[in-house]
Amino acid sequence: MPLLPEPALVVLVGASGSGKSTWAAARYREVEVVSSDALRGIVGSGPHDLDASTEAFALLDQIVAGRLRRGLTTVIDTLGLDPERRLGYLAAARAAGLPAVAVAFDTDEAVSRSRNASRERPVPARALSGQLRQARVVLASLAEEGWDLVVTVTDDQAPLPRAADPVAARTVAEGDVVLQLSRFPWDEDPAAWLTQMALAAQAAGFGGLALMDHLIQIPQVDRAWAPIPEPLVTLGMLAGLDTDLRLGTLCTPATFRAGGMLAKSFATLDALSGGRAFCGIGAGWFEREHAAYGLDFPPIGRRLDLVETAIETMRAIWGPGTKEYDGVRVQLPETTGYPRPAHHIPIIIGGKGERRTLRIAATHGDACNLPGDPDLLPHRIAVLHQHCDEAGRDRAEVAITVLDLPVLGSTRDQVWERVETHRGRTPAADYARRHQAGTLDTQRRRHDDLRDAGVGTIFLSPVGLAGPEDVLALAPLTR
Ligand code: CTP
Ligand code: MG
Repeated sequence: MPLLPEPALVVLVGASGSGKSTWAAARYREVEVVSSDALRGIVGSGPHDLDASTEAFALLDQIVAGRLRRGLTTVIDTLGLDPERRLGYLAAARAAGLPAVAVAFDTDEAVSRSRNASRERPVPARALSGQLRQARVVLASLAEEGWDLVVTVTDDQAPLPRAADPVAARTVAEGDVVLQLSRFPWDEDPAAWLTQMALAAQAAGFGGLALMDHLIQIPQVDRAWAPIPEPLVTLGMLAGLDTDLRLGTLCTPATFRAGGMLAKSFATLDALSGGRAFCGIGAGWFEREHAAYGLDFPPIGRRLDLVETAIETMRAIWGPGTKEYDGVRVQLPETTGYPRPAHHIPIIIGGKGERRTLRIAATHGDACNLPGDPDLLPHRIAVLHQHCDEAGRDRAEVAITVLDLPVLGSTRDQVWERVETHRGRTPAADYARRHQAGTLDTQRRRHDDLRDAGVGTIFLSPVGLAGPEDVLALAPLTR
């Protein structure tokens, strides 16, 4: 069974008792399924009140039109056997720009009959025979009707979606998943909250913990007065916990600290954590925090110079010995740096500027962190590789990492509650699409696709992550 597109119009097709409503209820939210039977029960005396059919279908059409206009996933649970109605739904999906999916229930006829017979209000046997006959004809020609996707459910025991299986998630070829924390909704006790989050991340199987580096909380995440801790101090505390999480920033603006100070802080973190530090670095973009904290915010070209300078300085000071350093941007009379890092601290360059940022990553980076946008990722990787070739750098030496910021949940209801909570004034369907909203199953497949595109570590930062329970629930996405 392929993963159905999202959002989409899904039209169920099959005789009574073929299992349509059961299938839909197992996969979609109640409000996403528009059922003629249910609407008969609302305008009529009950789901089987055939006198109410006209009004029930008028309501159904109105609900479908409203949801499609908003780009919301809609499952039409009717027999689906009437060609005119069915093609009308297809046309409505087209007009709304949504993919149109037909789900055909090719259930064994004897099974449908016996299920029907054991219902409280069976469809008369002759009527059911008529439906079964019609269904045979419709199912045979569905593929020619122009649907974007026709899915046939043959197994009468159509499997219910299982909770994501962490063992199956390990089929992903390589790389790990690192949890990125961007919001810090601790109540009274920051240290206790951070400790619980880290322990939960370890228990959930994450490979590490990354902290955002900002002086004022950014508007994309929370309000300006929401707390956001200094990451290197915080990582120092986390290093003292009993975990083997990798610890680092994603990303540190090169404008905040002189390269020498970064070298000292990250070397210390690496020493204290037994070689678990990584350093994400970028040009910075949030002008407001610089002004508020009395820091310079030069133009982008100059900020990228600072990135190069910082990387060169860190590498020089972390390198063996104490000798003088005479580099491209950096000259130092000596490189005396103790404690030494406990291992080669990976430097991850964040950003997507094709001309310079990706060139810096190709030239100096251990990794290049790109946005997860599936439409642009292959192109950006190609540009990065071109820079590698020009710099004479082996492409394999620069890992691709991705910052993934999905709206996710264990159930569709949870996903859509979160969409509703966080969308602000953005229409729900737009917000859901932009934030790759989906259940853990969907997210896992998306991660598989990222792996296929060449991504190693995925930095996962789910929207609205609030406490350790939320972290534990992510276990199916780690490996
Ligand atoms: N059923 C079942 N196992 C399945 C699917 C359905 O036991 N894999 C049972 C349901 O519990 C229900 C009956 O079969 O009692 C009919 O299933 P339903 O999903 O209601 O079928 P529909 O196709 O929706 O039938 P109708 O068109 O009459 O609504
Ligand atoms: Mg039904």
